[in-house]
Amino acid sequence: MDRSSDETAVALQALSRDAGLRNWRLKGVERLPVIQGGMGVGVSAGRLAGTVAGLGGMGTISAVDLRRLHPDLMARTAHLNAEPDAGQRIDAANLEALGREIARARELSGGRGLVAVNVMKALTAYEAYLRHAMTCGIDALVVGAGLPLDLPELARDHPEVALIPILSDARGVQLVVRKWEKKGRLPDAIVIEHPRLAGGHLGAAKVADLQDPRFDFDVAIPQVLEFFKTAGIEGRIPLIAAGGIGSLEDIRRLQGIGAAAVQLGTAFAVTAECDAHPAFKQVLADAKPADIVEFVSTAGLPARAVRTPWLDKYLRLEERLQHKAHKKESCTMRFDCLAHCGLRDGTPSWGQFCIDKTLGHALEGHLDRGLFFRGAGALPFGSEIRPVRDLMRWLLGGIRPAGLAGEAAA
Ligand SMILES: Cc1cc2nc3c(=O)[nH]c(=O)nc-3n(C[C@H](O)[C@H](O)[C@H](O)COP(=O)(O)O)c2cc1C
Repeated sequence: MDRSSDETAVALQALSRDAGLRNWRLKGVERLPVIQGGMGVGVSAGRLAGTVAGLGGMGTISAVDLRRLHPDLMARTAHLNAEPDAGQRIDAANLEALGREIARARELSGGRGLVAVNVMKALTAYEAYLRHAMTCGIDALVVGAGLPLDLPELARDHPEVALIPILSDARGVQLVVRKWEKKGRLPDAIVIEHPRLAGGHLGAAKVADLQDPRFDFDVAIPQVLEFFKTAGIEGRIPLIAAGGIGSLEDIRRLQGIGAAAVQLGTAFAVTAECDAHPAFKQVLADAKPADIVEFVSTAGLPARAVRTPWLDKYLRLEERLQHKAHKKESCTMRFDCLAHCGLRDGTPSWGQFCIDKTLGHALEGHLDRGLFFRGAGALPFGSEIRPVRDLMRWLLGGIRPAGLAGEAAA
């Protein structure tokens, strides 16, 4: 880590304190209350997560299909097709890439902040990614897109690793906490992600449920805190609010209703250090509210993304494709990224496209072929791509970066 990052981290701590924000505690250690959420495929890898951690926050690497960021690993696996061990070889390349990204994040972090790995429960390689991340010395595992009821057993040999489920309402929290308690473990923190606002896969059963008021932070957070009280675990599990957060005022308000910290996705995806192609960032940054759409993904979950030419075409054809859905002999990409895939398994009510391929195209900035996940909220710096440090100064101190288009320099 360079000296200026070191100084920025110290300055951010002072800004946050002066702004009246509270640090939060993970495994007994005080941290800045800003977390960069995991973003796949390849959007939040070592560079983004390490930069955020280097400034004292928590940076999260998304574990899925990271070989896409490594030309040598792609050269080894992209051509694989009908070989009987294709899946195994792709999985091995992905684990190698995960190890490299964790090492990169660690180096960039300079021992500051926290480096987490996000794994979706819906992935076939869920367990392999979790185990490898722990072996590589990760600080925290953040698991969403399904209920991680088995996480305490899987992490038993690594008590030093913080376990953080992503949930959306008090019902989900109650279920996970009750099950985990029986296994002698509590979550070290819980992300409460708002499905009406967040990007990517959303924690509601159907698109029609996304607007349900039970997900509102003002409802969900007090309900979860009330449950903690009745369960006798008050004050033991910090809550991290995620979805649509974009300012110091938002963080103050959420801490005011009982959140310990906040997690942001889209705002970090449009930073200079985000691991995706610049064109990916610009698609997210330029999107207007009317361009953002919800639909059912191949994982069977509602998802939110930018209505790019590819997504627009897919949504126009969706009904026809779903009508023709049928079980395929094998996965398009030969590695079965999802344990249950609407396209491969022919599930008519689920998405009928290859999610790995389309997210991979987005990562490379291909507007005509890519799926660009995005949250619904406005971005702090409009359509500008700015460094992580500008975002952190804005979130923790309310300081606008100098020279923003359309504004007098701050
Ligand atoms: C491009 C993109 C990809 C995402 N991928 C994942 C993912 O792989 N796993 C996950 O748990 N959350 C994922 N998310 C959700 C974020 O981690 C974060 O919780 C959410 O976007 C917060 O809402 P915001 O974007 O309004 O800040 C993704 C979000 C975006 C924008």
